[in-house]
Amino acid sequence: MTRLISAPAPVVVAPATVFGQGRDDPYARALRLGGGTLTLRPHDASPDSGRRPGEVTFNVLDWCSEASALELNLLQSLQGPVLDIGCGPGRMLSAARSLGMSALGIDTSAEAVGLACGRGTRALKQSVFSPVPQAGNWRSALLLDGNIGIGGNVGRLLRRCRQLIARRGTLLVEVDPDDDIDTAYQAVLQDRDGNRSEPFAWARTGRQGLEARASDAGWTPGPAERIQGRVFCRLSPFSDGARPARSIA
Ligand SMILES: C[S@@+](CC[C@H](N)C(=O)[O-])C[C@H]1O[C@@H](n2cnc3c(N)ncnc32)[C@H](O)[C@@H]1O
Repeated sequence: MTRLISAPAPVVVAPATVFGQGRDDPYARALRLGGGTLTLRPHDASPDSGRRPGEVTFNVLDWCSEASALELNLLQSLQGPVLDIGCGPGRMLSAARSLGMSALGIDTSAEAVGLACGRGTRALKQSVFSPVPQAGNWRSALLLDGNIGIGGNVGRLLRRCRQLIARRGTLLVEVDPDDDIDTAYQAVLQDRDGNRSEPFAWARTGRQGLEARASDAGWTPGPAERIQGRVFCRLSPFSDGARPARSIA
């Protein structure tokens, strides 16, 4: 006898420490300055899984500025209401507002949320793994700027996002430009003055790692789009009766 599994198992486990926080709080410092360079690097010699990743450099000014033309185009291709997961200081929320789209940001950083709200947008200081308003009704959700790494477990994050999105919704994920990278590790964030965060669980994955986990988390991945050196994937929830054979026990 076959049995259809209609929804992924609930997963609500909050990681202990989060992106760039603790110790010298480099993320909050950079946001208060409105710019600067932050480097994300492995904390330990050995990753939790996958190969040891290299460093990633973030330009905080980009996050504090307005959305780029590319990002505006991406938003325009989506339907509201939009949930921006790890919204930072809110450039995508501000862009959504300029397009007349309803949007909410969530972020664990008090400084980020304060800046986003200061732009006149709606943002809540909370984790994606905590109860999210209007769960199951978001028509679109964003995981940009490496946010697929949140919590250090791509499969768990994808399952969590599946709980948040509407049946006909879209999850827009920016993956690593390196298609083959697929690694989970303890990371630290550090600024140019040596201010350093506590270690936190993070992940980096390219197109292949995302596609490999999508169906187990309840998603059908669309083709990847490589634009201006960035790579985006659109995921749609399985429609009823359209789950792949290996999900039918
Ligand atoms: C790589 S930064 C991306 C910045 C952002 N997308 C922007 O436009 O400025 C990661 C962001 O995710 C947030 N974050 C980390 N863990 C989170 C969690 N569990 N839930 C929600 N946001 C989280 C961080 O505070 C940070 O703002």
